[in-house]
Parts: sequence; structure tokens; C-alpha cells
Amino acid sequence: MKKLFILSFSLFAAVAVAQTPVPLYLDESQPIEVRVQDALSRMTLEEKVKLCTAQSKFSSHGVPRLGIPEIWMSDGPHGVREEIQWDSWSNAGFTNDSCTAFPALTCLAATWNPEMSALYGKNIGEEARYRRKDILLGPGCNIYRTPLNGRNFEYLGEDPYLASVMVVPYIQELQKNGVAACVKHYALNNQEKWRGHIDVQLSDRALYEIYLPAFKAAVQEGGAWSIMGAYNKVRGEHACHNDLLLNRILKEEWGFDGCVVTDWGGAHDTREAVFNGLDIEMGSYTNGLTSGRNFAYSDYFLARPYLQGLQSGEYPLSTVEDKAARVLRLIFRTAMNRNRPWGSFTSEAHYEAARQIGTEGIVLLKNEPVKRQQPALLPIDPSRYEKILVVGDNATRRLTEGGGSSELKVKHEISPLQGLVELYGDKITYTQGYAAGRPRYGKVEQPRVDTDSLYRKALELAADADLVIFVGGLNKNHEQDCEAGDRVQYSLPFGQDRLIPELAAINPNLVLVLVSGNAVEMKWVDEVPAIVQAWYLGSEAGHALADVLGGAVNPSGKLPMSFPVKLTDNGAHAFDALCYPGDSIRVEYKEDILVGYRWHDTKKIPALFPFGHGLSYTTFSYGKATLSSSSLTADGSITVTVPVRNSGDRPGKEVVQLYIGDNKSSLPRPKKELKAFDKIALNPGEEKTVTFTITPDDLKYFDDARHEWVAEPGKFTLYIGASSADIRAQASFTLK
Ligand code: GLC
Repeated sequence: MKKLFILSFSLFAAVAVAQTPVPLYLDESQPIEVRVQDALSRMTLEEKVKLCTAQSKFSSHGVPRLGIPEIWMSDGPHGVREEIQWDSWSNAGFTNDSCTAFPALTCLAATWNPEMSALYGKNIGEEARYRRKDILLGPGCNIYRTPLNGRNFEYLGEDPYLASVMVVPYIQELQKNGVAACVKHYALNNQEKWRGHIDVQLSDRALYEIYLPAFKAAVQEGGAWSIMGAYNKVRGEHACHNDLLLNRILKEEWGFDGCVVTDWGGAHDTREAVFNGLDIEMGSYTNGLTSGRNFAYSDYFLARPYLQGLQSGEYPLSTVEDKAARVLRLIFRTAMNRNRPWGSFTSEAHYEAARQIGTEGIVLLKNEPVKRQQPALLPIDPSRYEKILVVGDNATRRLTEGGGSSELKVKHEISPLQGLVELYGDKITYTQGYAAGRPRYGKVEQPRVDTDSLYRKALELAADADLVIFVGGLNKNHEQDCEAGDRVQYSLPFGQDRLIPELAAINPNLVLVLVSGNAVEMKWVDEVPAIVQAWYLGSEAGHALADVLGGAVNPSGKLPMSFPVKLTDNGAHAFDALCYPGDSIRVEYKEDILVGYRWHDTKKIPALFPFGHGLSYTTFSYGKATLSSSSLTADGSITVTVPVRNSGDRPGKEVVQLYIGDNKSSLPRPKKELKAFDKIALNPGEEKTVTFTITPDDLKYFDDARHEWVAEPGKFTLYIGASSADIRAQASFTLK
């Protein structure tokens, strides 16, 4: 009897449960928009408002009553930052959060290889997913306007087309892990000096042609699920609640359906935050009256003040409906997406990816024989040397530390010295040569050693070595490629400019490795036969560098930014202080659309090492550029083909670049602009034909008077280059 009762009850219960419909917002089979609307219909006003603000340093509210989870965010663009405390910037002291540090994004840009960007996004996405993050605060794609910007190492260089191509795959692959990208810092955060309030003034042409394209590509091609507002102002309004940037351009013109998140402390006003496109307020320091009370989350601009304004009717309910819908959409794409993969962390595959991106991004700037009839110093032929001296603080310094919010706690970091010792064993001796203090946020710490003795020791050992490898550059200390401060000099710090030429004088067999995220002055460039631009390469730095110096990998990187001979050769430094860094209130981009090589070409100021420059251990010869037609119709396209051959003796990769110039235009235009590139691998003697397709869209400029992109009929010149200054072929055509 009892059994019968239990059986019938459980049968009844099963039937009952089966008929209780799962709420739509919890039903994974429902389209996200249906889930969003259902969730909204169940939420109170307070719960909707809560979705718009932080609940801790790196998380924002969910809806506990409905089982809608909170959103967990983490820096940064190069790897998943260590866990931070609930309510402060201090680290939480976890022991399970030592990550893989991937190369800095200048290195990724320097690969000129979208496949590397996809590899990057996939691998960093697996790490962020494994660490249970819903938003990764990156990638950054602010344009490199001045070599002094403290955060250029986190971005993708000076050209809007290169940055647009390289930012997209990273976002797409990252988000396949169910982790949202948060593309930053939108927009015009091109300096760190006065970053919290400096008001950027610029023309619409510079805005649309130079500073917006990478963000537009991130949204429209990358499908970014979130964007981070920048700290600075743009035309008088803070970027984190800016009607032009967020409402009119991002959400209306570009159709962005994701969330706008402030930079930490980037919100300053409730009314502007309500009406000017902000969705999630993070890191605010409240209104100053209560900043002492553990950050007073309920005092946030979009917390109590917003709720009261909604209740009083000061703010329309439609504003919070839109914000909450965007936050819920992000939650359903991430935290409540049950189909997302599980990720992985510090795996061999991740180290291999970091190493591959590093070796593909390292740029060989110069590699000349010391004496005629001798081979160039690189790749290093160990049979030629008994004693190889490695000099420089950057050969051993942990460079995954420092730099600000992108700094990382890593499971391992192979230093340049370690990579070279693994390769050349006891041929290697090391001396520091110069010293720098520890990385300290916001302040310069002096080294506690006798730097003169280091200098003398290095020269003494160099006299006795067969080959010297100097590893220097900047080091992510304050004012040396670091957030919250710009560089204060274009030249190298810590006495390197004195040591390098002295080393070259004592031993001409000198290989210089510069580790930095920025161009630096090189007054001694003629005295150094071999120069390598290595970036902040992350966990596998030493292996990547040794792969290239030793020739296991033939370098194929190209500069994503110009290296001016002197600072005033750069457009931002060719005017006055108002042009850079500004007068502490505003900064005026007087160089306008002529950023980087656009300035060098148009003003005929040769760069020391131009945008797109990078040598190889082999050589490439280019044939003639052949056009499918010499005239392009408004709705047509033409192709240009160019044969490229590996004329050297080892396999290599070349980045063939296409630039186009408008021979005559009614508004000023740069001499030429990058419009396409193709990275090809060639064996010795092998030839491939590279084909580019040109359409009228590639010829357009932004006509600010008409507020639209226009391509004017007339003559255009195309340039096929191994760099922006090394033009190997050109041809002309007419737009009908
Ligand atoms: C920092 C940075 C931003 C970072 C955020 C959280 O100030 O500007 O890039 O993601 O705050 O650390």
C-alpha cells in the first residue's frame, strides 16, 4: 500500500513539475531578447537601478531574488590580473590566480597578422573563463599620437586601419569563451597626463578618420559586448557620459547593443550619466561627502540619486529600462550562458601561444655587418663566439609587473637572460650595466646601487667579450611606459644613452635589444650594427627573444608606430604645449589628421624607423604592380597584383603593404594612407602574387561639413611598400 502511495505521489509530483513552466528568462532555449524582457517584467525599480552600479571593486550587482548573477570583471588586456580585494586596490592574496602573461598589444599589432590576434583572444579568453570572469577589461585600441603616452604599450599603434584589423579577431575569439570584451578607453585617451579631466578638442575629421575607426570595427565587426568609457573629457563632456560619443555615435550610428562601463572613477554627474549613455558605473569615489565610508556604493551617481530621480519623475523610467536591458543582455551572454566552455589556465598551449605571438611581433630594425665581407651579427652564429656578454637591467627584470592596471602575477616569466643561457649555456656571462628602481605606481623610485660601478664593470667585461647583447629600453616604471603618467623624456632613462655608445666603442660586435611599448630617441643609432625592437613579451619573453636572436625564428614583425629621430619630428610635438600635453584644462590636437607616418610623409620629415618597417634574415624582391583597370567606377572595384619573391637563403614572412594617396582633393589629405596588407610566408626562391582589391570605399575621406564619407572622382596613386617609406612599386588609377 505504502509503495503504491509513494509511487503515485512521485508520479503526480513529476507531472506537476513538468507543467510548471520555467520562467522565460531562465529558459536557455529562448532568444536573449525574450529573456531580457521577461526578466525586466519581473524586476522592481530598485532592482533595475542596482544593475547599473558596482557592488565591489570589480563586480556589479545581479538580481539575487531572481537568481540573476552578479557580473565579475577583471583586468586586463595582456592576461587575467590577480584577484583584488572587495573594497580596495590591494591584492586579495589568492594562491590560485597566477596567470599566463601574453605579450603587450603593441607586440600583437607588430605581427601585422590577424591570425595572431585570433590566437591571442582565444587563449586569453580561456584564462579569463577559467578564472570565472564575465568581462575582461580589454583590449585597448587608443591611437598612438605621441611617443610619450604612458599607456601606448597597451594599444595597437598609430594607424586606424591596422588597429581596426588587429582588434577584431581578439574580441571575437575572447567572446567565444562567454567572456565579454570591454574595449577601451573610448575615446581619445591618448595621454596619461591629466587623464582624469583633460578636455580633448579636435576636428570631426580627426575624430572620424583617426580616433574612432578601431572602436567602430570593435563594435561592428568584433561584436564587442561592452565598451569602457575613457577618463578624459571630449569637447567639454566626460567620455563616460558623453552624448556625442555614447548616444549619437556608439549607440545610434554604430548600433551598439552592449554595455558602456565607466573607467574606474570615470563617472562625475548623475544627470549626465542618466541621459548620456552610461550603463554600469564602476570605481566611483562617490560625491566626496561620503568618500570615507567604504566607498559608499549606495551614494554612487547611478545609485540612490538615480533611484530618487526616477521616483520623483525627474528621470524617465525609459532610461533605466534601457540600461537594465543592456546589463541583462550582457549577463545572458556571459554569466547565464550555460553553453559557454570551461576555459583553461596556464597551459602549455597558452605558453606556446604567448611565445608565438612574441616571436611574430619582434621587429628587426637594423642588422648590418660590422666589417665588410663579414655576415651580419644576427642571427647569432654561436660557432663564432666563445664569450657572449649580456648587459642590461631588462635582461633580468620582471616586466610582467608594473605598468598599472595591466600588470600581472604570473606563474612564470622567462627572462631574456634565461632564454639566452638556455640557448648558449656557459658562453654567456651577465652584468647589469645600469639600474632602475622597483615599479611604484605614481612615483619614481631610485635604484639603491652604485650605478657608476655597474657602468665601469660593463665596459670592462665588454672589452673582453666576443659579442655583446645589450637588453635595455623602458621598464613599466612610473614615467617609463606606465598608467597614470606620461614619459618625461623621449630619450632612454637610467644612463643607457651614455652606456650604449661606450659599449659600441669598446666592442663593435654589439646587438641592441630595446624592450619598450614606445619609440625612443637613438642618437647612437649609427654606432650600433644590430637593433631589435622587442616589446613587453610576457611569460615567454626569454624564449621568444632567443628564438629570434638565435635564428630559430626568422623575424617578421613590422613597426605599428613611427620612430621619429627627435620628439619634435612627431606631429603632436610640432606645435605648442596646448597641442601636447595641453594647459591642464584642455588639449588641442593641432596636427589633426596627420598622425604618425601621415605627418612624416606629408611634412617630408623622414622617421628614424618608419611605420611598417621591419627587416628579415632573408630578403624579398617585389615585381611590378599590375592593375586590372586604370579606372574605377563608383560601384566597381579594381585589383592590383604584385609578385613577391624570397630572394634570400632562408624561409621568411613578409608583410606587403598597400597605401593609397589622393592626388587632388578639395579638403587636405595625408600623402598616403594604409588601406590593406597581407602577410605571406615564402621559402627561399619562392614567389607568390599578392592581390589587393580596391573599391571606392577605400578612397573616402570624412567630409565634416557634410558629415559623411566621400570619395571624390579623380586620380589616385597606390603604393606597394615593405614599409610606409620603403615603396617597392606604385601605380595610378582614376575614380570615375
Ligand atoms: C584603470 C584603467 C583601466 C582599468 C580600470 C580597472 O584606471 O584606466 O584601464 O581597466 O582602471 O583597473
